[in-house]
Amino acid sequence: MFYDPRSEAHGLAHSPWTALVAPRPIGWISSLSDDGIANLAPYSFFNAVSGVPPFVMFSSAGRKDSQANVEATGEFVVNMAVAELQEALNLTSAPFEPGIDEFERAGLEKAACRNVSVPRVAASPVAIECVLSQIVPLVTRGGKKIQSEVIFGEVVGIHISEDVIVDGMLDISRIRPLARLGYMDYAIVDEVFAMKRPKMKE
Ligand SMILES: Cc1cc2nc3c(=O)[nH]c(=O)nc-3n(C[C@H](O)[C@H](O)[C@H](O)COP(=O)(O)O)c2cc1C
Repeated sequence: MFYDPRSEAHGLAHSPWTALVAPRPIGWISSLSDDGIANLAPYSFFNAVSGVPPFVMFSSAGRKDSQANVEATGEFVVNMAVAELQEALNLTSAPFEPGIDEFERAGLEKAACRNVSVPRVAASPVAIECVLSQIVPLVTRGGKKIQSEVIFGEVVGIHISEDVIVDGMLDISRIRPLARLGYMDYAIVDEVFAMKRPKMKE
């Protein structure tokens, strides 16, 4: 099959789009409102976009609370979404009012960060402290602004639980990251293999 999403219906029972870029990592974004209320929500249009120095991005379909908070404070934290916390993660995706603290709603303990004021999810094995770099609106070729905007963050602190470090490396089988597939589906990453990169021929 083929379709041009600008002008053609896909003809399937459900849109295939999010199943086409899968698995997607989930950035579980914590932030603080101007008046100090904590916010927590999952974003799977999320990724690391630079290694050295590390930068991340997430995309908000409309100006949701996380984006509004990042605009107000210039800070956010990416908590790693893991299998053990899947129910809590799902709960934090509910459309709570801005005044609601999703940590409390999901029964999640907060831990303090070092270089940002935003709290992190204490039970998550990895938390990435970020400061706002830029917010980029997405624009069609024809110059029309769509509803999504991409929030880029510069990484200013990284927390890693000692429990998941084995022989100086992060042990994915201990972390069991959660990934987003299409539709309502998720995957747990718990099978790992290594491949050496090919050497250049002389
Ligand atoms: C696994 C998962 C991934 C999601 N990814 C996104 C995303 O990338 N962008 C987005 O705008 N909403 C996404 N959502 C929906 C938001 O989490 C939801 O709208 C939430 O209420 C936003 O919270 P906030 O207003 O506190 O930022 C996702 C939901 C789930 C369950």
